[in-house]
Amino acid sequence: MTNANPLVDSFGRVHDNLRVSVTDRCNIRCFYCMPETGVEFVERSQILDFEEIERFVRVAVGMGIRKLRVTGGEPLVRRDLPVLIRRLAAIPGIEDLALTTNGVLLEEFAQPLFDAGLRRLNVHIDTLDRARFEQITRRDDLGRVLRGLATAKRVGFTRIKLNAVAVKNLVEADIVPLARYARENGFEVRYIEFMPLDAQNLWDRGKVLLADDMIAQLSREISPLAPVPDPDPRAPASEYAYADGGGMVGFIASVSRPFCLNCNRLRLTADGHLRYCLFAIEEDDVKALMRSGAPDEEIAALVRRNVAGKWEGHEINSTKFVAPPRPMYSIGG
Ligand code: 5AD
Ligand code: SF4
Repeated sequence: MTNANPLVDSFGRVHDNLRVSVTDRCNIRCFYCMPETGVEFVERSQILDFEEIERFVRVAVGMGIRKLRVTGGEPLVRRDLPVLIRRLAAIPGIEDLALTTNGVLLEEFAQPLFDAGLRRLNVHIDTLDRARFEQITRRDDLGRVLRGLATAKRVGFTRIKLNAVAVKNLVEADIVPLARYARENGFEVRYIEFMPLDAQNLWDRGKVLLADDMIAQLSREISPLAPVPDPDPRAPASEYAYADGGGMVGFIASVSRPFCLNCNRLRLTADGHLRYCLFAIEEDDVKALMRSGAPDEEIAALVRRNVAGKWEGHEINSTKFVAPPRPMYSIGG
């Protein structure tokens, strides 16, 4: 579908990708995202309802958004999520609908999600080691995630992707087992360099396990990896193929290979704020506008202004970098 008036920023980047967070709540507590206790969640009345989410997505699709990802927090803790998925899947113009989940509730929800029209899943899993899973997530739920993945595969999801956050001095021993498990099951792992988005300000450069180190390790211990041209050059992952034909693996090297120049993404937080970057400091209050009775044209104008003001990129690698005031769970990866 062509669009006469694309959402373009001052650096010429066309935006066709929207990520919608449906809750800031989560049923586990990954340390690189959430504190262990005392998380302050947004009050329910401040969370967009399904009508508001659907309305915003329709406006955004009218402006050229074609790809939609539902995120959290953990989206499956939002009541009736399959109902929302069905409504979003039915919006004409959405060419790609995906969900990012931690998989804990997937055993229960894989079938209803599939029935609602969802076909693409990213499941967050860092390790196959039960003790390390608990160390990272502060919950003993590895078994549920693995059963959830098996269920998702059985009900018909294909191209399931696994998201693994790469933290140095922590997950080195998990990289290869996770890659093997993915190869055996037809999943594709994407290793994500640890980013400064945790709630407790634990991040520093020395804690990032770098893509190059993981590529070397996988090449040595499984099969040599070679870069493959991505069918979507604007996707954040650098894709690699195993020389033995055993599938692909991706690296989201936000720290060592920033990909801001290709960014086509916008984010709507669960409380209805629009962000042009994961690391944005400023955001626009879509919810306030909607709840004041504004017509679609005003919402569209706000989206256009937000995109027009988008910065060139994050400055993780500069001394100027300021971590955003919201941690990952309240932004929506
Ligand atoms: N750095 C990198 N990735 C993170 N995620 C959560 N917190 C961080 C972080 N600090 C990832 C999780 C989740 C995705 C939305 O973002 O893997 O699946
Ligand atoms: Fe929950 Fe995802 Fe944050 Fe982990 S990374 S605590 S699964 S929202």
